[in-house]
Amino acid sequence: MQKKELPGEMYRPSAEVIGRARVKDWNAMVAEAEGDNQKFWAKEAEELHWFRKWDTVLDDSGKPFFKWFTGATTNIVYNCLDRHIENARRNKLAFLWEGENGDFRSYSYFALRREVCKFANVLKSLGVQKGDRVTIYMGRVPELPIAMLACARIGAIHSVVYGGFTVEALAERIDDSASRLVITCDGAYQRGKVVPLKDIADEALQRAATVESMVVVKRTGHDVKMEAGRDMWYHELMALPIAGNDCPAEVVDAEHPLFLLYTSGTTGKPKAILHTHGGYMVGTYTTLKYVFDIHEEDRYWCAADPGWITGHSYIVYGPLLNGTTSFLYEGAPNYPYPNRWWQMIEKYGINILYTAPTAIRGLMRFGDAWPNRHDLSSLRILGSVGEPINPEAWKWYHTVIGKERCPIMDTWWQTETGMFMITPMPCVPLKPGSGTRPFPGIIMDVVNEEGQSVGPNEEGYLVIRNPWPSMMRTLYNDPDRYIKQYWSQFPGSYMTGDSAKRDEDGYYWVIGRVDDVIKVSGYRLGTAEIESALVSHPMVAEAAAIGLPHEVKGNAIHAYVILRAGNSPGDHLTDELRSHVAHELGPIAKPEKITVVDSLPKTRSGKIMRRVLKARALGKDPGNLSTLEE
Ligand code: WTA
Repeated sequence: MQKKELPGEMYRPSAEVIGRARVKDWNAMVAEAEGDNQKFWAKEAEELHWFRKWDTVLDDSGKPFFKWFTGATTNIVYNCLDRHIENARRNKLAFLWEGENGDFRSYSYFALRREVCKFANVLKSLGVQKGDRVTIYMGRVPELPIAMLACARIGAIHSVVYGGFTVEALAERIDDSASRLVITCDGAYQRGKVVPLKDIADEALQRAATVESMVVVKRTGHDVKMEAGRDMWYHELMALPIAGNDCPAEVVDAEHPLFLLYTSGTTGKPKAILHTHGGYMVGTYTTLKYVFDIHEEDRYWCAADPGWITGHSYIVYGPLLNGTTSFLYEGAPNYPYPNRWWQMIEKYGINILYTAPTAIRGLMRFGDAWPNRHDLSSLRILGSVGEPINPEAWKWYHTVIGKERCPIMDTWWQTETGMFMITPMPCVPLKPGSGTRPFPGIIMDVVNEEGQSVGPNEEGYLVIRNPWPSMMRTLYNDPDRYIKQYWSQFPGSYMTGDSAKRDEDGYYWVIGRVDDVIKVSGYRLGTAEIESALVSHPMVAEAAAIGLPHEVKGNAIHAYVILRAGNSPGDHLTDELRSHVAHELGPIAKPEKITVVDSLPKTRSGKIMRRVLKARALGKDPGNLSTLEE
């Protein structure tokens, strides 16, 4: 896809950018990391705090269940907070936060540590223990990272569910993780309206049996039902004597689980990706430091939602590990006007902006006048993540926002990888639409069905050949699926689920998913989840969902349904089905269009052939139909 549009231009970094960059010689760093990979990662790990040092950097005896820094003990939150309190960053700002309604709060490292300790003590008093799972379902408020860090501080495992998800998606994730505690907000501001998070959580709890208590952060102040004996206000708990200012970080094994994050896979229900304290810490710390070239005085803004991996790695853990000042914003990019982001960049003097192509395309639509009203000269580096960035959006981002001064770090990675995998650094010459080359020490390849490398500019499956510290450890409760899904198609290599090309300069061009995952506005959704939400409606017998290209969202969901006998199609019905999906899964999963059909193309074994539906919708040749049922 990109290949045809490839402008063929190479953007070389300016002397100013190179002069400031930590890494000036990319090839030398790659050679060093490939030469002795374990030594490379160990050197980075030495910069962090370990209560006990490791015996082995990489233990691959149980592959593909790799272990990193075995024998070591640490705590990622100790490294995010206490390490800085002991050095010169005690009074440095960790977070600056602006609410959609203009509210403002800031936390120094000292203050953030205190709030995290207080809430960690609250969690303990509610009976949360090391290894327990806690579901967090909140808006973008500072209490969200505080809740994550408080869990990790005591060795509990957080499972954050994106605040844009709704009842069924939340219930399923609470249930699967067997969480005993849920942390939520009364509501979240979004485009001037209130998203009723607590009401949604109440409905989800009727479907999930494991929860004993719910802690509610007051944000919007609108009326919510508090169930006696189950629900408690965050601010009331934080005012109790048990919420003391200190709570020592639990000393945990490097391989102790840090969090679960559910993500959509090829089939069935979402799977829980498991990350651990030690390796994830080293991976996120190192990649953020080099790729966004973090300096002490920087103000960094990752505009993702903390509820997705980008937020976990590059709003919460990576920035705090680096002692960075991060900006957090609660609401919509174009509220109340399309200059909201640009206004905040000027106001807070943001130096690094990391966002997604869908947001760039969305803001680009409003024209250049909005950003041009603001002084964006503080910006130094820009970033992109979530889907391939089309050259038009790249150019706009580069010229109108970055004034041709700021290099764009197009970072390819996944929930599973935990950290950037294909990414430039500021010193690297860029080609719009390509993430350039793998991060030093990461060996990737593009292969055919047989697992052999393909030639330059040939399309194939994107695979990873060697382990890396922040790789997922397993699928929680489902180790067999971990092997099957990631390590069996090409034995010995990790299958990303993406297709890609590599050009003659070794630059990678990611094309998109080869499985049944749809990227809508950069968010990852599974066809299986959308289909099961549709089928849960009493009028639907069968459903199939596909993604079709969309100008702003990248892909939009189109669904095909077969109705149960006795129901007739009509606008009213399809509208109702669209709302039903939004109610069950969330507004992001709401299909763009639903078409009622009499039959769906299936294989003889009964699997829906989504690629046939997609080809037909796009007016393309559906390809090999030999497995299609008559
Ligand atoms: C896609 C998001 C092209 C890709 C961090 C991957 C990208 C999936 C890029 C993971 C990029 C992410 N260029 N495609 N820079 N970044 N992707 O787990 O298809 O939500 O497999 O992690 O997003 O999505 P996930």
